[in-house]
Amino acid sequence: MTKINLKDVLRTPKGTRDLLPEEVAVWQKIEERAREVAEYYGFRPIRTPHIEHTELFTASLGEASDVVEKQMYSFVTRGHDKLTLRPEGTAPIMRAYMEHGMRAWPQPVMLYYNGSFFRHENPQRGRYRELGQFGFEILGDDSPVADAMIIRMLTLVLEELGIKNFTVHINTLGDKECRGDYKKELVQYLRKKVNYLCKDCKIRLKQNPLRVLDCKDPNCAEIKAGAPQMIEYVCAACKSHFKEVLEFLDELGIPYLLDHALVRGLDYYSRTVFEIFLDEKKPEEKKKKKEEVKTENAEVTEAADAVKPQEKPALNIAIAGGGRYDYLGKMLSSKDIPATGGAFGLDRLTDAARELNINLARKKAPKLFLIQLGSHAKKKSLALAEEFRQANIPLAMSFSRDSIGSQLKIASRLGVGYVVIIGQKEAFDETAIVRNMEAGVQETIPLPRLLSYVKNKLKSK
Ligand code: HAM
Repeated sequence: MTKINLKDVLRTPKGTRDLLPEEVAVWQKIEERAREVAEYYGFRPIRTPHIEHTELFTASLGEASDVVEKQMYSFVTRGHDKLTLRPEGTAPIMRAYMEHGMRAWPQPVMLYYNGSFFRHENPQRGRYRELGQFGFEILGDDSPVADAMIIRMLTLVLEELGIKNFTVHINTLGDKECRGDYKKELVQYLRKKVNYLCKDCKIRLKQNPLRVLDCKDPNCAEIKAGAPQMIEYVCAACKSHFKEVLEFLDELGIPYLLDHALVRGLDYYSRTVFEIFLDEKKPEEKKKKKEEVKTENAEVTEAADAVKPQEKPALNIAIAGGGRYDYLGKMLSSKDIPATGGAFGLDRLTDAARELNINLARKKAPKLFLIQLGSHAKKKSLALAEEFRQANIPLAMSFSRDSIGSQLKIASRLGVGYVVIIGQKEAFDETAIVRNMEAGVQETIPLPRLLSYVKNKLKSK
């Protein structure tokens, strides 16, 4: 009989951990909050298996990505299938979208998910081999508002949890064509400095030069700082897409920094990419920083003013990350499926929530439902939703392209007293229709008066 090494067996495998009852309670409350936000905004749940065909990931994340090269738990089954424990959720969701003919569903398809993912990484603070993620994906939509919406979902969950000191690092990777032009320039520049690059970056330069910008080695930092910047090479269409995303973020008051070194590690990304970092700055300092950044972003092309790599927060691990992946559909089939998404690391969020001692009391049921029809109305509605949130008025809304009829049905199912409707006409007139659900009557109110009008109505109920 083989002798058991109890010292090893009585410990969780390297990079994994037990979550004890108190930790599970925090974790579950975070999931609950995230689910509430997702459902309010019209996302629907999806679950995919923990195992997938290995090729799903090699074909989509990129052979030269760290995840595929070093971190996948892959194995051959007794039936000779090559399978992998899922390292991330986006490729499986695109697979599910195709497998279940979701192209025939009303677009965009907005999904959320939550579960364990597996990466054979070097364990350190906030880095586990079994990690929890809560993610949002919008498939079948190429508009900048969808990118902003994803960032809004993630930051809203943070705000709901009482986490205020965060910054969205954002960049654009352009599309295939303009990224190609940029890559050429970057390679030319890096070749001149090749002797000073770290060992890994010498390989990256050959296989995937953009990843040099992602290198954490201090020796490469100086080289990165002098590198040409993507924003100067993107085509007019990509630049205007990015500019609109930033305008949405401005409108929503979401703090962000242009980070030209942000490239993300996976091949499927194009155009908008982002990561959210928790910073340890005091709120006053933060506010100042936000104002500075806003002025900088008045013109996206002012690349020189944007954040330098060494300005990244001290706690240099991202709490969330994501971006647009318009080419993933094409990588897996011949279909063009524009899409965007993002995911939280639940381990990191739980750790942050516990460190910040956040209040996880239950949320109140919604009293109001916001219906928006058309892209202009959506833009107005995102900012309006924020006003209601700050005024502490529980609100639900659906971001999908559902008809007014089906949105009203959701509102009545939720039992809200009032529905605010903004169509294209109202958005241009700066008005909104307020409908009393019980009496079935409605009134048109100018947007500047909307909040006080709704407050009065709810008070007198
Ligand atoms: P990701 O940036 O690789 O993106 O992971 C998302 C988040 O998961 C990270 O920001 C981090 O908080 C957490 N995370 C990643 N690795 C670990 C780890 N080893 N230990 C603990 N937490 C970790 C993705 O996975 C994309 N699928 C996100 C996405 C969705 N893009 C588009 N849609």
